[in-house]
Amino acid sequence: MAKDAIVLLKEDHKAMRKLFRQFEKAGADAKATKDRVARQIIEELTVHTYLENECMYPEVRRLLPEVEDDVLESYEEHHVADLLVMELVPMTWKDERFVAKATVLIENVEHHIEEEEQDWFPKVREGLSRTQLREIGAELAAAKETAPRRPEQPSALKKTLDAVIA
Ligand SMILES: [Fe+2]
Ligand SMILES: [Fe+2]
Repeated sequence: MAKDAIVLLKEDHKAMRKLFRQFEKAGADAKATKDRVARQIIEELTVHTYLENECMYPEVRRLLPEVEDDVLESYEEHHVADLLVMELVPMTWKDERFVAKATVLIENVEHHIEEEEQDWFPKVREGLSRTQLREIGAELAAAKETAPRRPEQPSALKKTLDAVIA
């Protein structure tokens, strides 16, 4: 049986938080570690953003129109994270701004994860049935198989590029 969509997304959040802590714990000398962990953060975030933007948010918006404002705010928060990711990708630990940029990305994403878990997920759980959440969970699991893992893949930052270029 498919996992509940919220359970699945919370597992992703947990994995990201673990990477955030690894990034922070790596001392100022562990530049190469910070670089490696930042790449992992970017990969996790790229997959997760794709799942939420392309599947979770549109599905919930369709089924539960009363949470539309939260969905719209989420798109904007992901958009800010996407912009930071695009700036971080070409950087290495040798860049003066690398750690600062990654730290701001982490702070932004932590804030967003917090809002989802404290505020948005409870509303969605309240508004949708277990069956609906499992159906979305199955869609998320399927989308994960083909999700982009690198932000420069065309399907990854589609919304960001649309917003910047359009
Ligand atoms: Fe999100
Ligand atoms: Fe999320």
